[in-house]
Amino acid sequence: MSTVFILNGPNLNLLGKREPEIYGSDTLADVEVMCRKAAPADVSIEFRQSNHEGVLVDWIQEARETADAIVINPAAYTHTSVAILDALSAFEGPVVEVHISDVHKREKFRHHSYVSLRADEVIVGRGVQGYVDGLAWAVKKLA
Ligand code: DQA
Repeated sequence: MSTVFILNGPNLNLLGKREPEIYGSDTLADVEVMCRKAAPADVSIEFRQSNHEGVLVDWIQEARETADAIVINPAAYTHTSVAILDALSAFEGPVVEVHISDVHKREKFRHHSYVSLRADEVIVGRGVQGYVDGLAWAVKKLA
């Protein structure tokens, strides 16, 4: 049995309501269901969201002890957080960075990602399917 943490950063609790022209109409609860359906029977999913940087750092540290891989959409912290980068660097398993939108085709400040310095795989611009693809990538890596 392996465990994959799927972590979500700030404002993703508003998915489905927030800028649907950019992020689509699925909610984060829908994304969780999609990921649980896509996960093989021997993979346990821990799906969480926080608006707080330190909480995300705590969860990444927790993953050091309890998870085999991390799939993370750090949202705005992608572009600002050395703390999240450092926490991910202390995690030994595969890390997949997911963005619903194509951050490279948006404002310039979204082009840089601290998290990409650690991520083993980066998925952008595939909508919420990016989570399922990210999970599949992590599962394959763990096999
Ligand atoms: C995002 C892209 C980020 O730039 C933005 O701050 C988000 C969501 C995405 O999933 O496309 O909140 O990570």
